[in-house]
Amino acid sequence: MAKPSPVAHSKSAKPSSLDPLIEKLNSFSADNYWDLGKFLVEKVIPAALKEGIFGEQILKRMADVPGFKFPYHMLKQCQMFYTYYPDVEKRPLPEIFYFELATKVDESRKRTEYEKMAISHKWTISDLQKKIREDELVRREDEKTRFGFDLKERNVWSFDTPDPRFGKSGYKGRLPGQVIANALFYYTEPGWFIVDPMAGSGTTGDVIGSIPYFGNRTIKMYDIEPSDERIQRANILQTGIPEQSGTVDYVFLDPPSDFYPKAGDSDFSVSAARAETMMKLKTIAREGVRILKSKGRLSIVVEPTVGNFGFIDFPFEVASVMKELAMKPVGKVYLPRRGDSAKVRAHTSTEGPKPMTSECRELLTFEKP
Ligand SMILES: C[S@@+](CC[C@H](N)C(=O)[O-])C[C@H]1O[C@@H](n2cnc3c(N)ncnc32)[C@H](O)[C@@H]1O
Repeated sequence: MAKPSPVAHSKSAKPSSLDPLIEKLNSFSADNYWDLGKFLVEKVIPAALKEGIFGEQILKRMADVPGFKFPYHMLKQCQMFYTYYPDVEKRPLPEIFYFELATKVDESRKRTEYEKMAISHKWTISDLQKKIREDELVRREDEKTRFGFDLKERNVWSFDTPDPRFGKSGYKGRLPGQVIANALFYYTEPGWFIVDPMAGSGTTGDVIGSIPYFGNRTIKMYDIEPSDERIQRANILQTGIPEQSGTVDYVFLDPPSDFYPKAGDSDFSVSAARAETMMKLKTIAREGVRILKSKGRLSIVVEPTVGNFGFIDFPFEVASVMKELAMKPVGKVYLPRRGDSAKVRAHTSTEGPKPMTSECRELLTFEKP
């Protein structure tokens, strides 16, 4: 075993009973996962609990100590390894197989299955890794088929191409239907009545109409320029949304790009454009909130404007408007633009640096009290 290496005391100035344990931990060899896990589980975690440090904080505090050599995720892996396989020496496969299983496979039943397969088929560690990877891909595909769309598990929803089943190809401002499908998945419930007051090419209607998972939701769509017969004509800035107050469960707002100031607008025109944008966004937000039932939700696609004049944080401003309307924030998702809409602009030496432009919209969701 390596000699203990010097480690600075943990960030708190007070000496702690954990300090010698941290010092000892740091002396473990980096490939001695099981011993490290055992030491963590049997010594460090009980001592930390006595000091009033709980849960994830225990390992995070260790990893934060200056000079400590193991990152958090590695400590976590070692902890899992020992917890799942305290009897690793008595098991039939080499240790590395169990490390792989403990850190890559959540379900204990599946770990046992893989162990049996590895023994009976005489797998190498690469065979096991490959099988785990393949099964994960199949699981994701199954999930897509199960729900009928590309379900996102994190808060950045980026899609290479719009799903051709939803919305009309070539329609200016069409949102990838996958965004709407994910919004409906996370923010609506079975039986809900949904209104899209700026429906454009009817993407929301297509998602609800063609994905069986959403079959029990109902939808009404409006637009100033209806693109098909399912969409009713309404100018919601002038006449509001043609729905009674307090009757709708979910409103999806996707305002057009011409609501926003243009990136090339001059200093002078931008303050007026900014006020005009906010006036429009406020009007549609108020209308959306008016028609919602209590506990109903509203999602709005909104984008910051970055241009010659600087930066206008419209998502922040919309969130402030919603706060004034007593709406509770329940979600924020980033929608990076892909393909043609994310244009690359060349810099030339004579013009000097060009200002940045926005390439990421946000989907903000709020709930009515
Ligand atoms: C960004 S597009 C919506 C795209 C839609 N989500 C889709 O995927 O096809 C914005 C829509 O708002 C509509 N619109 C603009 N001003 C409006 C107004 N005052 N009232 C109602 N709809 C309006 C436009 O005609 C346009 O179709």
